[in-house]
Amino acid sequence: MPIPSSKHDNCFILAIESSCDDTSCAVLKNNQVLSNVIAGQKIHEQYGGVVPELASRAHQSNIIPVVHAALAQANIDKKQLSAIAFTRGPGLMGSLLVGGSFAKSLSLALDIPLIEVHHMQAHILAHFIDHGQEMPEFPFLGLTISGGHTQIVKVNDYHDMEVIGSTMDDAVGEAFDKSGKILGLGYPAGPIIDSLARKGNHDAFKFPIPKAPDLDYSFSGFKTSVLYFVQKQTQKDPDFIQNNLEDICASIQYTIIEILFQKLNKAVKQTGIKSVAIGGGVSANSGVRERLLSKQEKGWKVFIPPFEYTTDNAAMIGISGYYKYLQDDFSSLDIITQARIPM
Ligand code: KG4
Ligand code: ZN
Repeated sequence: MPIPSSKHDNCFILAIESSCDDTSCAVLKNNQVLSNVIAGQKIHEQYGGVVPELASRAHQSNIIPVVHAALAQANIDKKQLSAIAFTRGPGLMGSLLVGGSFAKSLSLALDIPLIEVHHMQAHILAHFIDHGQEMPEFPFLGLTISGGHTQIVKVNDYHDMEVIGSTMDDAVGEAFDKSGKILGLGYPAGPIIDSLARKGNHDAFKFPIPKAPDLDYSFSGFKTSVLYFVQKQTQKDPDFIQNNLEDICASIQYTIIEILFQKLNKAVKQTGIKSVAIGGGVSANSGVRERLLSKQEKGWKVFIPPFEYTTDNAAMIGISGYYKYLQDDFSSLDIITQARIPM
């Protein structure tokens, strides 16, 4: 861990995350989190997915209370802040605009630097939030698994990352959420499937492993196979879902984990890097965590984030901002948020 130079001692960063449907603000002192406030948006549950227009509106009403709460919990006055970090992208444009515009205004009003952060890099850099744990050493592999992304990343340095595999269609979080929708579960279905799967038999039903080139992933065919399977079974037995829900969830989750780890194993072999860190909402999954932990027997060094830093949060934006702050890597005020942005 680099020790901050005296110039950067007691650096206070306020970070804002608004890329999807969580409005979050965190305050960090150097690499430690003083507060990390997240306002989720229940409004989307009734639609079975995030409605972008509604997400932007909710960010507008949440952002000021969330920022006030983060400052209050950190017991910091805004005049003490050293810089403002924010998610520039990728994400939903309307959502990013709310956080981005707020961050710019605050940076201008307080006359302190503005720092743009890449949301997917932040999911990986969450491992550098200091809570007394061991941190990965460069280079390592990052498996970023969320509602919008599925990537294997070679992490050379804090902001030097190379995507070596990614999904060609749906993200793994979508595979969970869309399977859940087929089964009539709530949104997001990932955590629901996770808890039902724990009580089921993962060998009960078989789903095919999709074929994708090299280190890339594909999940759209998997979702379709779940749909056809459920349609076929419910034609024979209208109560099929109800009578087999735990086994169906266990089998779905097991297959998704197989898909993830077949490519991750390949990436470890190809790169020779045996140090692996997971990040993103799906890294909260108990089966994914167990599978990664079991790899320690094969000599892997594994890094699993605490639950509060798996799904979207501003603390991960803050730690990413901190490492840019140490290098005086600031953004100009004419920076624009971007729905798509390369790593
Ligand atoms: O990282 P995240 O909060 O937002 C994006 O950047 O997309 O990830 C959200 C995704 C959703 O698809 C949700 O179903 C999934 O993470 N998720 C889970 C679990 N917790 C959240 N998937 C499987 N098991 C979980 N325990
Ligand atoms: Zn995310």
